[in-house]
Amino acid sequence: MGVEVVVDGLTKSFGRQVIWEDVSLTLPAGEISVLLGPSGTGKSVFLKTLVGLLRPDRGHIWIDGHDLATYKENTLYELRRLFGVLFQDGALFGSLNLYDNIAFPLREHTRKSETQIRQIVMEKIDLVGLLGAESKLPGEISGGMRKRAGLARALVLEPEIILFDEPDSGLDPVRTAFLNQLIVDINADIEATFLIVTHDINTARTVPDDIGLLFRRELVMFGPREMLLSSDEPVVRQFMNARRHGPIGMSEEKDVSELEAEARMGHDPGVLPPIPPQLMPSGGGIRRTQRPPGEWLAANGVTPPEGSFVDEQGRDWLREYPRLLKAHLHGVT
Ligand SMILES: Nc1ncnc2c1ncn2[C@@H]1O[C@H](COP(=O)(O)OP(=O)(O)OP(=O)(O)O)[C@@H](O)[C@H]1O
Ligand SMILES: [Mg+2]
Repeated sequence: MGVEVVVDGLTKSFGRQVIWEDVSLTLPAGEISVLLGPSGTGKSVFLKTLVGLLRPDRGHIWIDGHDLATYKENTLYELRRLFGVLFQDGALFGSLNLYDNIAFPLREHTRKSETQIRQIVMEKIDLVGLLGAESKLPGEISGGMRKRAGLARALVLEPEIILFDEPDSGLDPVRTAFLNQLIVDINADIEATFLIVTHDINTARTVPDDIGLLFRRELVMFGPREMLLSSDEPVVRQFMNARRHGPIGMSEEKDVSELEAEARMGHDPGVLPPIPPQLMPSGGGIRRTQRPPGEWLAANGVTPPEGSFVDEQGRDWLREYPRLLKAHLHGVT
């Protein structure tokens, strides 16, 4: 069903280098969240801290009434089983074929028979579209296939929380689109809580329910997708819209003279582009935690830019969604 993760006042440093400070956010149960931030802002460190691979200096990580930040090793072992992690390069064992890679957590952490393991492994291999490639070694397949194998492995222990570290890095735009659809479909199916770190702005704009942005050692903003896509906050605006104008420069931060020069030039931050509709499950259904398009904007009196919520086929999701919801509810009851 997915569990809620509440991060409260989390701080992490290495020696005297503070990575981020006082980070608080809630990953709602079953929702998809995306974490953004320039390179080196500590996104991977954040994921590693969440799974207990790194210990924070201060703060709490509440899961199911347990504080992961102050765990004892034996409770941590139990809590770690709630997580599935897709590491950046898939982190597969190079000498094991895909089948054995995906079976690995089951052989390591459960007492299941090889027959039971086979059933689970083949089901996940099918889910990620790798049927027929079971006996290939990681070195013999493409980067996209390795990512999907890593995803299958992250799924075998039926995690309640799945962390993805740049699932789309190194993939071509078409493969990224397929992977994003797969992520949404898996979320609709298993209803686990997802946190995705990505640099892909299209992924960030269309996949998640919630978005967070790390910048200059703090979480600048965390909230509903529509809130960040319509935000005037300069860093959020620059990042969400992949612009040069704004506080972020080539080497992490622009210096004062660059910003002053920009101000003198009178660069206009420009109008915001339309807010795209959220990616829907491919089966035509609605995810349990999905919010209707425009809900946050309407509740906060924000008018979206012209052309918002219209998809590539020209369908307007402000009209389409209520129809789909009605059909969905009829189907369910
Ligand atoms: N184990 C470690 N010991 C010391 N410093 C570390 C360790 N792990 C990460 N860091 C430092 O923490 C900072 C944040 O690193 P991190 O890998 O989390 O960045 P990131 O946001 O994931 O960047 P990218 O987008 O490039 O993947 C970097 O300055 C890095 O050098
Ligand atoms: Mg990283």
